[in-house]
Amino acid sequence: MKIIKTKDYEHMSRVTANLLSAQVIMKPDCVLGLATGSTPVGVYKQLVQWFQKGDLDFSEVTSVNLDEYKGLSPENDQSYRYFMNHNLFDHINIRKDHTFVPNGLEPDAEKACDDYNKIIHDLGGIDLQLLGLGNNGHIGFNEPSSSFEKETHCVDLTQSTIDANARFFSSLSEVPRQAYTMGIQTIMQAKKIIVAVSGQGKASIVKEAFFGPITPQVPASVLQLHSDVTVVGDEAALSMLPH
Ligand code: GLP
Repeated sequence: MKIIKTKDYEHMSRVTANLLSAQVIMKPDCVLGLATGSTPVGVYKQLVQWFQKGDLDFSEVTSVNLDEYKGLSPENDQSYRYFMNHNLFDHINIRKDHTFVPNGLEPDAEKACDDYNKIIHDLGGIDLQLLGLGNNGHIGFNEPSSSFEKETHCVDLTQSTIDANARFFSSLSEVPRQAYTMGIQTIMQAKKIIVAVSGQGKASIVKEAFFGPITPQVPASVLQLHSDVTVVGDEAALSMLPH
């Protein structure tokens, strides 16, 4: 595991965007695994800027997102499809029909998950997966549990995740209680993984995930077993790591 220490959120965003850009430049028809949450917003902003300058071309890129709230439509401004359109896809030349997010409106969980697994299999897997890190160590919406879930599945969100994500909704009761998420095995099969972390609030979970025991109780800890993981963090998020 490589750890890149950056000064602050802006610097972390630029470094992460550089790593994603390198992938797109080296393999223009790559499959990017993308993430939502507040952490990657700056990364996407930077990619849009470089695209607008003419330095990046996404015309052959395909993307698969990690997760989506069950029950939210693409037009709902809290859905992850909306987030991706708004923060990235609407501003670059990626083909919209080459961008995939689990279908939050599919009420049949088994069908939603099977369909998404098929999309990822048909693409031949993910070249580079970008991840954020939940306060409880979740990646995508793989919540702490007694086992590592393999492929796309429907999760009951934990109270800690519901509380953490409530800041984006007008009230706690509006936060969906379930989500569809890519599984741990699918994430682990990505050729490269980048984990972006920022802020003091993440410092202790960063330490636990990357320097603690590997356990499904801290889903991100499994990343210690991947051969090409880069953690890009600002000083605050990395402040509890051993030197
Ligand atoms: C959500 C997403 C995760 C994300 C996490 C952290 O729960 N499903 O993919 O990594 O939030 O979000 P933030 O970056 O806002 O701390």
